[in-house]
Amino acid sequence: MTQTEKLGKEGEIWAVGGGKGGTGKTFITSSIGTYLAQKGRRVILVDMDIGGANLHSFFGIDRPARSLTSFFETGAALSDLAVRTEIESMSLITGDIHSLSAENIKFSQKLKLFRQIMKLNAQNVIIDLGAGSHGNTLDTFLIADRMIIVIAPEIIAIENMYHFVKAALFRQVKKSLKEYGLKEIVQHVWDRRERYGVKNVKDLIDYLKDAYPYFGAILDRELGHFRLHLVLNMVRSGQDIQLGAAIKSVLMKYLGVPVHFSGYVMYDDTVWRSVRDRKPFMRNYLSTGTAKEIETLVENIVLARDVTVPGGMS
Ligand SMILES: Nc1ncnc2c1ncn2[C@@H]1O[C@H](COP(=O)(O)OP(=O)(O)O)[C@@H](O)[C@H]1O
Ligand SMILES: [Mg+2]
Repeated sequence: MTQTEKLGKEGEIWAVGGGKGGTGKTFITSSIGTYLAQKGRRVILVDMDIGGANLHSFFGIDRPARSLTSFFETGAALSDLAVRTEIESMSLITGDIHSLSAENIKFSQKLKLFRQIMKLNAQNVIIDLGAGSHGNTLDTFLIADRMIIVIAPEIIAIENMYHFVKAALFRQVKKSLKEYGLKEIVQHVWDRRERYGVKNVKDLIDYLKDAYPYFGAILDRELGHFRLHLVLNMVRSGQDIQLGAAIKSVLMKYLGVPVHFSGYVMYDDTVWRSVRDRKPFMRNYLSTGTAKEIETLVENIVLARDVTVPGGMS
């Protein structure tokens, strides 16, 4: 599938992942979508947290009339599964509630799903991913034009996130070289990385480019869209925000891909209150500082720009 096949020319797929559960991926997905829709964009949200689907709850929807279950079980067309939300110009494709996990999706179903996601009639398709680094989750992340990573300032979330993005990048490298018969070489070098002086994915890519100059250009092209937009959620202090900038540097150093620290969102009790009261956050709490932080991070993602870190380096 090429970029031009995706959502026509003006449309973009955004995916929100990050490896760990409970960092606010689904909240951020719902908020980004609402903000873009309220700015007049046609938005479709897709809940790809197979088995743990709860994006609908952030819109006060109890039992969605339709869900991805129909896609998997009866072959229903994806575009027929979108349900309206109370936000005009935004609809939602609810996740599969019955399957146990992302592992249950068959390869052929996955390809069909991706093809249909790319054909959805929207200016922004925003995909909410589940936790973990399963291949299906990584592949979904990799079809996105904008790769958004949500983390919380805690060590486990950061470790899981690093594992997630590393696995996604490694998978992209293997995919890129697969059709040239080099997938095994990538794995071979990685499995013996000490012997090759390869310490991380950046070293691996550099090694491959050196050893196979012809494939360097292919890698550059195929990895061209691999650009991370980092969102730090549940922030409680200025020190936490500084951490976002540090994480960005570490990711760039060890992965060798562009990373933007797009924004941060403070920990705010209004968030869970909005879910409890069934009031979509970005519709009902627009005057809060948290809503402003979300506006800023979406604008930064659109412009591939970094957030200004208060009182410190960027
Ligand atoms: N910035 C925040 N402040 C306070 N609570 C938050 C914030 N972001 C998310 N939450 C709450 O944390 C919980 C987990 O969020 P969720 O979006 O479901 O995480 P994930 O999708 O990563 O598992 C939810 O109860 C949500 O309301
Ligand atoms: Mg979630």
